[in-house]
Amino acid sequence: MQTVGALLWEPGTRSGWSVEEIELDPPEAGEVLVKLTSSGICHSDDHLDTGDIPLPWAPILGGHEGAGVVTEVGPEVHDLAEGDHVVLSFLPSCGRCRMCVSGRANMCDLGAGVLAGRAPDGTHRIHARGKGVGAMSYLGTFAPYVVAPAAAVVKIDPEIPLMPASLIGCGVPTGWGSSVYAADMQLGDTVVIFGTGGVGMNAVQGAVHRGAKNIVAVDPVEFKRDKAKEFGATHAVATHAEAAGLVEQMTNGQGADRVIITVDVARGEIVEQANQLTRRGGVIVLTAAAPVLQRDVQFDLFTFAMSGKRLQGSLYGTTQSRNDIPLIADLYKRGQLELDELITRTYRLEDINEAFADLRDGRNLRGVIVYDD
Ligand SMILES: NC(=O)c1ccc[n+]([C@@H]2O[C@H](COP(=O)([O-])OP(=O)(O)OC[C@H]3O[C@@H](n4cnc5c(N)ncnc54)[C@H](O)[C@@H]3O)[C@@H](O)[C@H]2O)c1
Ligand SMILES: [Zn+2]
Ligand SMILES: [Zn+2]
Repeated sequence: MQTVGALLWEPGTRSGWSVEEIELDPPEAGEVLVKLTSSGICHSDDHLDTGDIPLPWAPILGGHEGAGVVTEVGPEVHDLAEGDHVVLSFLPSCGRCRMCVSGRANMCDLGAGVLAGRAPDGTHRIHARGKGVGAMSYLGTFAPYVVAPAAAVVKIDPEIPLMPASLIGCGVPTGWGSSVYAADMQLGDTVVIFGTGGVGMNAVQGAVHRGAKNIVAVDPVEFKRDKAKEFGATHAVATHAEAAGLVEQMTNGQGADRVIITVDVARGEIVEQANQLTRRGGVIVLTAAAPVLQRDVQFDLFTFAMSGKRLQGSLYGTTQSRNDIPLIADLYKRGQLELDELITRTYRLEDINEAFADLRDGRNLRGVIVYDD
């Protein structure tokens, strides 16, 4: 079918997104066609444009945070039907590999290829200007239709509005799971969250669910700090130094139980800042993406080892998409988790470059692209 999509022809050059006609093939074996309601703008897509995440293939159709309705089912798909309301998971889960069957679905073998610029079978479903187009996360939600591997498509309760549900494709489970699972937060914890944007704000929500006593949001942007308090942060400060002073008072000098890093771009110095704030035996969770080629990091290795701390990487908040996407949708339905409040502004696909400018300028918790009927 003919449709439109936002492509990067020269990833890594900050050239921005080109909205143009694309040709979408019908779903093949193990795939479905989904008509999207909306797509969130996650900072990971910006990393493709800036080159912090280099890509092996161009052009690429961006976007990996979408929800919509299944409109066509390819062969060999047995658990999805036309009309199903679905969230697209930015990482697929085959349900069969060693990682999937041992409770690590976020690290499914299929996920290794999400940035390869090809469908899982090595070919392209999308074409533009006579060339095969790659899709971010096998999805490409910066287009009103997506041909997705069924392994990345998760059914949700049809009563849940699809526009807010699109954020459950990436930002919400990534942040929420960083607190709930990756940090294994405990009742009464003192926690610090560096960066309360689209991902970090959900780390705040996760900390609330886990019963953290002190939730300190750190963000240089005043609007983000104000919002963090609305989402349940008990304190909000602009800098690491201010957080250090607060945590010292709160914990009688011991340090925070958990520190979560959800800034836009992880730089080497932030790990040591987090380390300094963490108590003996505490946990530092690194969720934010660093530039892929960055190797330098500051870290007080001696104190880290001698105080028994843990530095925990966190992919998709260590969530299991088939369990946690419906769970988060249900928490929203019961009024226990906010999604609508995460959406600061909606855009049309044609205005996608304005949406990315707003992301970089810190104007949005989440910007969302909305597609017409
Ligand atoms: N690990 C994963 O599975 C995964 C999934 C999705 C996104 N991410 C990554 O998470 C990060 C956050 O994404 P997002 O969409 O929330 O971005 P965002 O732009 O919405 O939010 C980032 C926030 O960090 C703040 N910030 C910048 N420097 C800071 C500092 N030194 N201290 C404190 N706050 C600071 C910004 O003001 C902003 O509010 C990105 O790196 C993204 O690529 C990782
Ligand atoms: Zn994302
Ligand atoms: Zn798997």
